[in-house]
Amino acid sequence: MRVTFTVNHQSHTLDLEPRVLLVDVLRDHLHLTGTKIGCDTGQCGACVVLMDGVSVKSCALLGVQADGSSITTIEGVSEKGTMNPLQTAFQAAHAVQCGFCTPGMIMSLTDLLARSAQPSEAEIRAWLAGNLCRCTGYENVVRAVNAALQVAASPAHLVTETPLRKFYDSHLRAMLAGDVDALVDAHYSADAVLTTFEGVISGRDALRTYFRDYLAAHTDLVIAATERFVEFGDSIYTETVVRSAQGVTHAYNAFVVQDGRVTHQFAGVK
Ligand code: FES
Ligand code: FES
Repeated sequence: MRVTFTVNHQSHTLDLEPRVLLVDVLRDHLHLTGTKIGCDTGQCGACVVLMDGVSVKSCALLGVQADGSSITTIEGVSEKGTMNPLQTAFQAAHAVQCGFCTPGMIMSLTDLLARSAQPSEAEIRAWLAGNLCRCTGYENVVRAVNAALQVAASPAHLVTETPLRKFYDSHLRAMLAGDVDALVDAHYSADAVLTTFEGVISGRDALRTYFRDYLAAHTDLVIAATERFVEFGDSIYTETVVRSAQGVTHAYNAFVVQDGRVTHQFAGVK
């Protein structure tokens, strides 16, 4: 039978025997071997892919049933060759051991996170009932999902588990909200000093003027990525990709934070 479907946004037309399973089409015909076969009987979840956005076990479907559909496999979830936040969180939280179940888990969880922005731990565990893992004990998997949720909710795209990360996240939230008073009053000491290549700004009133001018010039401000975040003692060093109406800049900042307020900051762009 002739079937046409897209896989990871690429259209394919194939002549398939009606008995061939979708997982075998993906692996053997299209050479997308990220999708695994653990049991071939619909129990383990290693073969999960998205069909029109819904997680399905590709060993429980025939290839011809994919006709007209849009399939996403693990090869299709990375962003321009870079692991997406869920994949990054799996790596950081050591949620992978042998890795055989991982592609299916990522695909199942991708479906969950598309349905629910803030699933509870019980919902995450219940959702993974169809993904068997013999190695991890699931603890780190749940941790990884929670970390990915935190990253998604953070304007800094960070897991905010330390006081200085929380501080930086809060600083960015106030700035992105355009709330200059909250930004300065809650985050800078009365005699804070901000040094830029243009000059030195000192004190809250001057900082308010500086940030008002900055936000007026950088409308539609977004932190596209935090590429580097380093904490040492009471100091933070960050490198961020900033997008605004002015274009994309790579900004770096060094903060000295004492008693929850910035005393010194150096700001620059690459
Ligand atoms: S290989 Fe499909 S559920 Fe196990
Ligand atoms: S990491 Fe080995 S089966 Fe899950």
